[in-house]
Amino acid sequence: MKDKIKEIEKQIDAAVSDIQTSKNLMEIKMKFLGKTGEISTLMKNMRDVPAEERPSLGKVLNALRQFAEERFASIEEKIKKAELKKRYAEEKIDVTMPGKETADGAYHPNTLIRQELISIFSGMGFEVFEGPEIENEYYNFTALNTPDDHPARDMQDTFYIDANTLVIEDEYYGETGNLLLRTQTSAGQIRVMENKKPPIKILSPGKVYRSDDDATHSPMFSQMEGLVVDKGITLCDLKGMLDEFAKKIFGSGVKTRLRPSYFPFTEPSVEVDVSCFECGGKGCRLCKGTGWIEVLGAGMVNRRVLEGCGVDPDVYTGFAFGMGIERIAMLKYGINNMKLLFEGDVRFLKQFKA
Ligand code: PHE
Repeated sequence: MKDKIKEIEKQIDAAVSDIQTSKNLMEIKMKFLGKTGEISTLMKNMRDVPAEERPSLGKVLNALRQFAEERFASIEEKIKKAELKKRYAEEKIDVTMPGKETADGAYHPNTLIRQELISIFSGMGFEVFEGPEIENEYYNFTALNTPDDHPARDMQDTFYIDANTLVIEDEYYGETGNLLLRTQTSAGQIRVMENKKPPIKILSPGKVYRSDDDATHSPMFSQMEGLVVDKGITLCDLKGMLDEFAKKIFGSGVKTRLRPSYFPFTEPSVEVDVSCFECGGKGCRLCKGTGWIEVLGAGMVNRRVLEGCGVDPDVYTGFAFGMGIERIAMLKYGINNMKLLFEGDVRFLKQFKA
């Protein structure tokens, strides 16, 4: 046993001089001091040593263990210092080096207009509500007083969805008609009125889909809807509010005019024009010589729509308006092709740094 102890002492000396890394050290430490390591095994074997030899042998063994622990501790300190020094050297930063250039992003023109619209209307007390892009015929057409044979319901204009290809929550859509991609944010009017008693003052931005594709139309585009329902709301309120909106977005010099129009869900319905902010109304290319630019559709909420949502039309009236966000962006920034808004070309987009 004593020989064995001498032998281990030598081995430790040899091993320690070879140690390079903390991982190395751990392994060696385990080899000698670990639960099944050499020294621990010797300690266990003490049981077989004759009782009279045990005290003296025990002393030697304890000394061996202390020797090992001390050697390992001192080498550990050296290694840690060396490793830290190495890390500092590797991670050293040269603060005099030129920085790496990172490309700055810019908001998409649609986002800028959307943010601007939300900021203008929230200043007037509107709250934002976002409805679902997948709708059914009830919310998109029927509840908006659109007859069953209305051409907008045609497959040529509306993208219908095969319900079997979707996993959807029935309670959200109910059993009320085919699923489709909403063609107008007006669908959100119904969802709001079904869930909230007047006074209502909401703004509803979002994507809409129509089977339409040319320089000024895209199969997917964005709208901003507004809805106000309360006691005593009149067309004058609508005109006054839109006038303020037009001045804020196109400049304080613009005038607003209403032209009679038709939407199934508003009565009366109007088309809203602003005086051309490019030529001041004299007539130019932008306004096609008319001096006016059409910006949105609006009207007084049809009493049949209010009734269908459980709002008493003899007590409450309201107005609604809807505009195309891309259209406003094109007008405001002088963009002549809608495709530019969807192609994601950075050379185009980076011009819109706010
Ligand atoms: N939803 C109509 C459209 O998409 C716009 C509109 C909204 C008109 C609200 C009147 C009231 O053309």
